[in-house]
Amino acid sequence: KRRILIDCDPGIDDTIAIILAACSPIIELVGITTVSGNVGVDKTTLNALKICEFAGIADTPVARGAERPLVREPITGDVHGESGIGGVELPFPTKTVIGEHAVDFIIRTLLESEGDITLVPIGPLTNIALAIRKEPSIISKIQEIVIMGGGTFGNITPAAEFNFYADAEAAAVVFASALPITMIGLDLTHQAIATETVKDQIASIDNDVSQFVLELLGFYDSNYKKMGFEGAVVHDLCCVAYCIDSSLFATRHVYVDIETKDELLYGASIVDLQGVTGKQPNANVAIHLNQEKFWSLLINTLRQYS
Ligand code: BDR
Ligand code: CA
Repeated sequence: KRRILIDCDPGIDDTIAIILAACSPIIELVGITTVSGNVGVDKTTLNALKICEFAGIADTPVARGAERPLVREPITGDVHGESGIGGVELPFPTKTVIGEHAVDFIIRTLLESEGDITLVPIGPLTNIALAIRKEPSIISKIQEIVIMGGGTFGNITPAAEFNFYADAEAAAVVFASALPITMIGLDLTHQAIATETVKDQIASIDNDVSQFVLELLGFYDSNYKKMGFEGAVVHDLCCVAYCIDSSLFATRHVYVDIETKDELLYGASIVDLQGVTGKQPNANVAIHLNQEKFWSLLINTLRQYS
């Protein structure tokens, strides 16, 4: 099994990503940590707990993380509704967070591991940057870090993607850390669109989680369609799919830097696809998705859920 720790800000696509991880026989979910992003950390934490309860994720600890970005004021997203998981109502959870802060939980879990944990941050990188700064020795313990963020274009500004823009200083710390980074940015995630055909296939499964995923997609969908997309872009789901089967993704090993100073470019990931800087590559940047296999992976995994 591949052992992963998801750091998230649920978030509709975060929710679907957690569900795929929980349902996959290939994944062991060792922890869920939360951060401010799509909505504030109180809400993302409550959502994470609700999702765990709904999806029967009993033994995985949930730890609450950073309330604010490292330097700037917090921003929130606008496609996930007020609760962060718009379109669905889940009961108040009985599961609670552990007493430890997410940053300490990440550090301890990595230090106690045999170096076999993959970090999967699918929200702003605040917790990860804080963990690296607090305990740099975790770096050698991280097998891989599969990040949803960045791209060669933006979705919150023309240049920046939401997760990197929400805490660019944190993203800069992570990209300068010499970690084995896989960056699943917008160039890739915009190939993962839940079209009507995809939704029909999910609808035909008819179990609790597939119906839940469908409801989430319905709400998310309407927001993306207003922006001219054919359906919902399921960004975060791509990271978990990558952990399950990286062969669905074509990547390039290149140098990536994060802009933190220029206002117009704040949070932009500068991806040196042509190698013009001559700098040592520091990230595997995902560029192409095998869409057919990607959706089959989700659908087959949801089908197995009982
Ligand atoms: C990212 O921002 C959030 O809205 C999504 O959950 C995803 O992590 C996409 O830019
Ligand atoms: Ca997210």
